[in-house]
Amino acid sequence: MSSLAEVISESIYDHPKYYDLVFGADCAAELKFIRRCAEQHASGKINKLFEPACGTGRLLVHLAKHGYEIAGIDLNEKAIDFCNNRLEKKGVKGRTWVADMADFKTPKKYDLAFNTINSFRHLSTEASSLGHLRSMGDVVRRGGLYLLGIHLTPTQAAPSETESWSARRGHLAVNTHMWTIDRNRRKRVERFGIRFDIHTPSRTWRIDDVLVLRSYTMPQMQQLIDDSGCWDCVETYDFTYDADSPIVVDAGTEDVVYVLRRR
Ligand SMILES: C[S@@+](CC[C@H](N)C(=O)[O-])C[C@H]1O[C@@H](n2cnc3c(N)ncnc32)[C@H](O)[C@@H]1O
Repeated sequence: MSSLAEVISESIYDHPKYYDLVFGADCAAELKFIRRCAEQHASGKINKLFEPACGTGRLLVHLAKHGYEIAGIDLNEKAIDFCNNRLEKKGVKGRTWVADMADFKTPKKYDLAFNTINSFRHLSTEASSLGHLRSMGDVVRRGGLYLLGIHLTPTQAAPSETESWSARRGHLAVNTHMWTIDRNRRKRVERFGIRFDIHTPSRTWRIDDVLVLRSYTMPQMQQLIDDSGCWDCVETYDFTYDADSPIVVDAGTEDVVYVLRRR
């Protein structure tokens, strides 16, 4: 993109307006999936929903409009401000606040929690990811669910390396490109480049960021769930979010949503 006047290196999470356009355009499948999992896998009524790493609340706001009581946390203050402003503007109840999902508490228990697009992999150590699963065990009541979506590192297939997509709202268009920078299997660190090319009638500019994510093979993830001591994995799906089509996770699987039920 040689005509690009401005390039800034910043976290995409510090730009909630563009993040929300890029990731929030199509939530319908995820929303339906959350409701169907509640019907199929939870015990008891599902009224109270919680999202760790909720970001801009692209899913929470819709769920609140459908009458669920909602709450969420995120490490990024800008995302939380964006989310709370939106909840207020839409006139729905619900609150999100800044907290680290590695170790946190909530004043009440929830029936179902969800974390659908890899945010969990931002936790960079075994201790923090175990801390997260245990914190979530305190947040979700017995028989309730935690829907945890992550990309695994396949051990019998080549992982995907690049992805590009576009989103538009009115005169604002954002083209997104994401690519693998490197993978260190021994240290379990994967780095991805991500860029937003932002076009408005008066300005064209780019945000460049690097996402550093912890990697999980299928056995590593299963071991972590077992070690948490509070969750049973009752079903697995992929990122098509089709609750009628469970998958069997094997060494070639990349995207998985684990349906964890609180013991
Ligand atoms: C890919 S975004 C997902 C946001 C939202 N869940 C969604 O589906 O659009 C990842 C989010 O994780 C948040 N995050 C990263 N590390 C975190 C941590 N330790 N505790 C809480 N949130 C964290 C980021 O600030 C960001 O908003």
